[in-house]
Amino acid sequence: MSEIHNSQPEPASTAQGSENSAREEIPSAYDVPLEDINLIYARLWSEHRWKEYAERLRAEDPVHFNETELAGRYWSLTKYEDIKQVDSDWQNFSSAHGITLGLPVDAELPDGALGITTFIAQDPPVHDVQRKTVTGVVAPSNLAEMEPLIRQRTCQVLDSLPEGETFDWVDTVSIELTTMMLATLFDFPFEDRRKLTRWSDVTFAIPQPGGIIESEEERRQEFLECLEYFTRLREERLKNPGNDLVSMLAHGKDTKDISPMNYLGNLLLLIVGGNDTTRNSMSGSVYALNRFPAQYDKLIANPDLIPKMVAELIRWQTPLAYMRRTANSDCEIRGKQIKQGDQILMWYASGNRDADVFDNADELDIERPNSRQHLSFGFGIHRCMGNRLAELQLRILWEEILKRFERIEVQAEPERTFSSFVNGYTYLPVKVNRKKS
Ligand code: HEM
Repeated sequence: MSEIHNSQPEPASTAQGSENSAREEIPSAYDVPLEDINLIYARLWSEHRWKEYAERLRAEDPVHFNETELAGRYWSLTKYEDIKQVDSDWQNFSSAHGITLGLPVDAELPDGALGITTFIAQDPPVHDVQRKTVTGVVAPSNLAEMEPLIRQRTCQVLDSLPEGETFDWVDTVSIELTTMMLATLFDFPFEDRRKLTRWSDVTFAIPQPGGIIESEEERRQEFLECLEYFTRLREERLKNPGNDLVSMLAHGKDTKDISPMNYLGNLLLLIVGGNDTTRNSMSGSVYALNRFPAQYDKLIANPDLIPKMVAELIRWQTPLAYMRRTANSDCEIRGKQIKQGDQILMWYASGNRDADVFDNADELDIERPNSRQHLSFGFGIHRCMGNRLAELQLRILWEEILKRFERIEVQAEPERTFSSFVNGYTYLPVKVNRKKS
């Protein structure tokens, strides 16, 4: 059985290749013995050093082995084609043991683990029927219906931004907009909507002193609170169904009798799916266009480029750095002998920077001809269910930004999420200048 969250094996606070203090500087990727490279270290991501490590792996060891006491054996795939192939092959590479680096398949769950399950971490047939139950919420007709509300809320948030004063784009815009969207999808009490943000943050947080959570016990308590809240909503929707995700799960023939932990898992999946990812794309778009000002100029001159910019941005940012699969049997990838039960990490963030597929891959190019071939939404049966919703939110955001502001100016380098799974931002100071009418 798998947990939705990474139950602990990420060696979070160590520098690459070192077990010493978190303050020790991360060495150059080329000064570390190849076998010691381990992309799972969260500091490589929070200090934005992952790119050179991934580049070295793509060049020298694209199917790279690591083994740790807690997680057992795992392989990192860093080339685009290998990732796509494994992601498309659910028969040989299972999701049912978890989608982030976890315990070896035969290990017992740790004491106190809730045993949460969710359809992203299941194989057919369970995956397919549960996904089908909720997929209607992001069907094109529903998205068209939601568009005016998304636009109205986007305008409201943008109109309330202070002028000429530095503020945090992450909290004021990205978190606020994605949380409002989630509250709409669940028909969640609007005044309590920041609870959704909190549960999303808690799901993949690495426990550490002063962090989002300090212990697994804290995570467990917050999950139980989430379940309690949504159980109340479920009772209401059983009596008064609507066109929202809670009603769909409560009435769907394949989900109405699922266990509380499966209900909780699917809720957390929808909360995280619709929150962290889109939030970090919104922050990433502002940051990237500032880092590549010629691209920003091009966008301002031609707002018809917004849809292409959105696809390119999602490639460049790659809001979820990897997904995990588990080998169902012994097999071979690029000559490496994979054993049954080995974990396989498909590093989307690296595949999206693979020069064999994307020219000048580290650069944002809003007219890139093949940006839509990015890996950020995955492939195969688990391909992101909410991809059109995410693109819609980003398109509307930029349509409304370009109407209102001369420019959004980043004031300093962002602070980044302490995680190798969620590739995002915790703080992005900006100033905005409104257009004079
Ligand atoms: C830019 C924004 C987003 C990114 C980058 C993203 C990324 C991903 C990725 C990488 C996967 C797994 C794919 C795989 O294993 O092959 C996934 C699955 C999923 N995403 Fe998204 N996502 C985004 C937005 C959303 C939104 C807005 C929703 C809300 C409805 C959502 C809901 C889901 C769900 C339910 C799944 C599980 C699908 C399944 O297992 O069949 N995502 N997403």
